[in-house]
Amino acid sequence: MSLLIRGAHQLATPIGDSTRRGGDFGRLAIAPRAVIRCEGTDVVFVGDAAEQELKFPPPQQILDAAGGCVIPAFVDPHTHPVWAGSREQEFNRRLAGESYMEIARSGGGINATVQATRAASFETLLDGTLTRLDTFLEHGTTTVEAKSGYGLDLATEVKMLEVIAAAQRAHPVDLHPTCLAAHEVPIEHRDDPERWVNALVEEIHPSIARRGLAEAVDVFCEDGVFDIEQTRRLLADAEAFGWRIHLHADELTPLGGTELAVEFKALSADHLMCITDRGIAALAESETIGVLLPGTSFFLRSDYAPARKMVEAGCAVALATDCNPGSSPTESMPTILALATLEMGLTIEEALTAATLNAAAAIGRASELGSIEEGKRADLAILSGASYHHLVYHYGVNPIRHVVKSGKVVVKDGIRVSR
Ligand code: NIG
Ligand code: FE
Repeated sequence: MSLLIRGAHQLATPIGDSTRRGGDFGRLAIAPRAVIRCEGTDVVFVGDAAEQELKFPPPQQILDAAGGCVIPAFVDPHTHPVWAGSREQEFNRRLAGESYMEIARSGGGINATVQATRAASFETLLDGTLTRLDTFLEHGTTTVEAKSGYGLDLATEVKMLEVIAAAQRAHPVDLHPTCLAAHEVPIEHRDDPERWVNALVEEIHPSIARRGLAEAVDVFCEDGVFDIEQTRRLLADAEAFGWRIHLHADELTPLGGTELAVEFKALSADHLMCITDRGIAALAESETIGVLLPGTSFFLRSDYAPARKMVEAGCAVALATDCNPGSSPTESMPTILALATLEMGLTIEEALTAATLNAAAAIGRASELGSIEEGKRADLAILSGASYHHLVYHYGVNPIRHVVKSGKVVVKDGIRVSR
């Protein structure tokens, strides 16, 4: 199948097959009126319309960008998209001044979603996940890292990861499953959290690895959840399982999770609202990517990660939604870009790179995804607006008009074509 995208006012993309940082971070290639030709799943031509016509036969399908701007589809490298129930009742409690952790300790928070997720059938969970994936896609995201972590027992963690596998078979969005069984200490282990750490290390992680249900592992390294030593123990086997590492690090307290992620050569250290100067220095020296989640700061009304300082120090930075029912219930990367620019001080160009090429690098896929270049996968989003600035300028609404995934039009005029 060949597809030609023409009629764009502009194409804007980062360039390369690895993380952009330093002076390269905000450097986009901007091609006025470029056309893009896709063959099968890949991009085979980007450039001048007349040259395309000379080089190739007429395409089987044409997508008219109608004066819009073409960008790489978003990669969302940190989400918790499988859950049952909802926690909207926590919203007013937080507005009235209760903190996220206070709510968690009084029966709300992660454990509330754990109860609902344990009780939910496979079909209910799959249904909810597919609905969320539709929303991701409609907002221009075609690749999503997906964590378990609302089971906190073997059966439900497996159920969640099997839901992710089933969603992958049923939906065009690509999923990268991460085992986050170490998301919290479940209520039945509160009297002795070390017993839960032992269960994770001895039974749950090995058994999920044997089933081949995850490609990475994550731990919520946080005061009152898993401390640095417990996290170190939880990550120690990851390599032997062939798992890459993501880490919820320095989110609510400066525990030093960033330095630990660097020590383990993690793909990413995520959240980082409380990253220390030492953490920034360690990250800047490493290949580990700092995944920033400004939606969580916005939604919890807490501090934002020091994005500008990290970028100036030479850290590689990506952006993600953290989509989850408690601290960031959104699938919208354009919203995240608006927050990253207006609240964290990234430029639009940096934010776009952080949400595409660097986000692809944060899940180990920068050689295939995250930019519009010949040989890369044809995952693209087309804005209604004429330039990439409309991504954040036209805030609070969905700026995405069409989405192409692996060379197929999957969203047309804002409407999902089919699953
Ligand atoms: O990334 N930090 C821990 N986990 C999630 C929140 C999960 C929840 O509240 O349900 C997060 O913010
Ligand atoms: Fe998270």
